[in-house]
Amino acid sequence: MCEVIAVANQKGGVAKTTTSVSLATIMAKDDKKILLIDFDPQGHTTKSLGFQDKSSYDLSMTDVLNSVIQDNPIDISRLIVHSQENVDLVPSNISLAGISNGLESVMCRETILKRFVDTVKDQYDYVIIDTNPTLGTMQINALTASDSVIIPVQAEPFAVDGMGDLLKSIQLTKRNLNSNLTIKGILITMVDNRTNLSKKITTDIHENFGNYIKVFNNTIPKCVKVAEASGVGESILKYDPHGAATKAYEKLAKEVLYVEKESKRHKDSFLR
Ligand SMILES: Nc1ncnc2c1ncn2[C@@H]1O[C@H](COP(=O)(O)OP(=O)(O)OP(=O)(O)O)[C@@H](O)[C@H]1O
Ligand SMILES: [Mg+2]
Repeated sequence: MCEVIAVANQKGGVAKTTTSVSLATIMAKDDKKILLIDFDPQGHTTKSLGFQDKSSYDLSMTDVLNSVIQDNPIDISRLIVHSQENVDLVPSNISLAGISNGLESVMCRETILKRFVDTVKDQYDYVIIDTNPTLGTMQINALTASDSVIIPVQAEPFAVDGMGDLLKSIQLTKRNLNSNLTIKGILITMVDNRTNLSKKITTDIHENFGNYIKVFNNTIPKCVKVAEASGVGESILKYDPHGAATKAYEKLAKEVLYVEKESKRHKDSFLR
């Protein structure tokens, strides 16, 4: 049974892409069959897997949306590219911005991505969707296509600003479009354990949300190697296989995927 996981937060730069790529590559190394969907016109996930420009792939997410909207089949063998790290990828680039801006008048616009994902997910253990930093039709599409969502939150002041809007959006999607949706957990990223500020923010997040949403025990440390890896278009697993961030993501992968699902208390108390 495939699980579809969205990595979402409308706040920019909180490590959605880093988390998506890290989990995907770590799970693939563990022999899971993974499809990573780059659902962000910035195309950072695509670049992080080594597909630096449009000439390195044929079709992209833009073609997926067009095919679903026009009810035309898409050639999956031309669309999905296989990365060196054994992750299958649906690439994205800036052309996605054009089509996503024009979705407002499209019929059943919230289910476009789901209609595509449902046709391919049987071939995978996990589908991971990296989302763009906005609240809107694109994000609702990702939430509607998913079984669960991971919310990365950066350990910095104002970390949870806008969290209420995101949770509302998740709740509305669950009520109206996807009754199976659950929150897998809040992931605290870029933690600098040497500073009291990071510790305080981590404590605040547990106190504010921990009673009704799972907050992952594993946090991701701030490491310069992560930024360097992004800079050279490599996953952190490839760039720094024994580094602290890689180890943290490996632990997270275990917590997310292999440990028994979190108690129903978390799911039911927030998402009714
Ligand atoms: N643990 C970390 N330590 C240091 N730098 C990090 C860490 N995680 C992410 N970064 C860096 O922070 C920046 C933002 O990360 P990332 O692109 O993953 O965020 P994002 O939420 O996907 O951003 P966007 O909202 O633009 O899509 C990148 O330069 C990335 O390399
Ligand atoms: Mg991103």
